[in-house]
Amino acid sequence: MSSTWNNLGLHLSIFGESHGNGIGVVLDGIPGGTPINLDELNHFMQRRAPGHSSTSTRRKESDQPEILSGVLQQDGTPFAVACGTPIAAVIRNTDTHSADYEQMSTLARPGHGDYTGHLRYHGCNDPRGGGHFSARLTAPLVFAGGICKQLLALKGIRIGAHVLQIGSIQDTFFDPHSIPEVLFDTIAGKAFPVIDNDAGKQMITAIEDARLDQNSLGGIVECAVTGMPAGVGDPIFGGIENVISSAIFGIPAVKGVSFGAGFDFAEMTGAQANDPFYMDGDEIKTSTNNAGGILGGITTGMPVLVKAAFKPTPSISRPQHTVDFKNRTDAILEIKGRHDPCVVPRAVPCVEAAVAVAMASFLIHN
Ligand SMILES: Cc1cc2nc3c(=O)[nH]c(=O)nc-3n(C[C@H](O)[C@H](O)[C@H](O)COP(=O)(O)O)c2cc1C
Repeated sequence: MSSTWNNLGLHLSIFGESHGNGIGVVLDGIPGGTPINLDELNHFMQRRAPGHSSTSTRRKESDQPEILSGVLQQDGTPFAVACGTPIAAVIRNTDTHSADYEQMSTLARPGHGDYTGHLRYHGCNDPRGGGHFSARLTAPLVFAGGICKQLLALKGIRIGAHVLQIGSIQDTFFDPHSIPEVLFDTIAGKAFPVIDNDAGKQMITAIEDARLDQNSLGGIVECAVTGMPAGVGDPIFGGIENVISSAIFGIPAVKGVSFGAGFDFAEMTGAQANDPFYMDGDEIKTSTNNAGGILGGITTGMPVLVKAAFKPTPSISRPQHTVDFKNRTDAILEIKGRHDPCVVPRAVPCVEAAVAVAMASFLIHN
């Protein structure tokens, strides 16, 4: 099972199952002496945790990480430092309703990894709550990404994301040329992380309507990195796009990743697509940023812009056609349990975390 990610000396290994004893992460490569604010880390994790809004699953998990190693905390304060050794953390599972998943050891939930996981692991995978395939495993990713975000902030690099689209409803885009830090903080402080609150209200209504219709919605998260120095990354397989994509595809339900103008490039001419260079005092900048801050796999110094497309939540409560993959018969499935009618709002910090891990890996030894 490949639940380990690494790039240029930063290693991340995620373990656990949704309805087992717990889930967790080992993060190796964070330099000794890196300050870690545990309150800030906890706040970041709470942005992903379930049960906080009508658009998320009602599963209640405190998502409180227990740090086992690699961090020295100053007694009674939220201030800690990384030791330079592997940072290990575990998050206990508490609110598990395994009975909701009994039928899943034989019935393939459409849109889930039950059937493929059964094939790949010869029926030995834990099917309860999706086991290791569950989006609960994004909590350890967010823990690791939260530490990487704090490391990057020390170098003036900030990462923020928002819900860009739900169904056909769109939020305002980040300004590709320049994004004020305060915008990231404003979005992060919102229960529904959008730039335009009116668009956000329409999205919430659309998600609620889908839930009442026993259905679900997908959408897009837009993420930006500001303050990235120019000249970071490599061509061919070690590029910023390669490394960010591989981390983002570690988030369940991601089906597309694009950079800058992305798929819109297909409809542009070269004259429209190219970003003209200019001197801004001593700095070299581009007047547009269709490239999303990356040329030849290497940062230009402009904001790095990435979008991740999420499919609609696969667990919907209306009856669905499926098969019993052990008895090889057709079947009708009615999914019980608690589910996000749209995964996109809770995926926002997950995307920030994946991008933070990727960016930190480039900068730790730079
Ligand atoms: C933050 C987040 C929460 C999710 N919550 C649910 C959920 O409540 N119910 C569900 O069926 N899928 C949920 N998913 C998506 C599934 O985990 C995912 O679609 C499934 O494991 C199959 O993986 P794949 O879509 O990557 O192929 C969630 C995904 C994310 C990122």
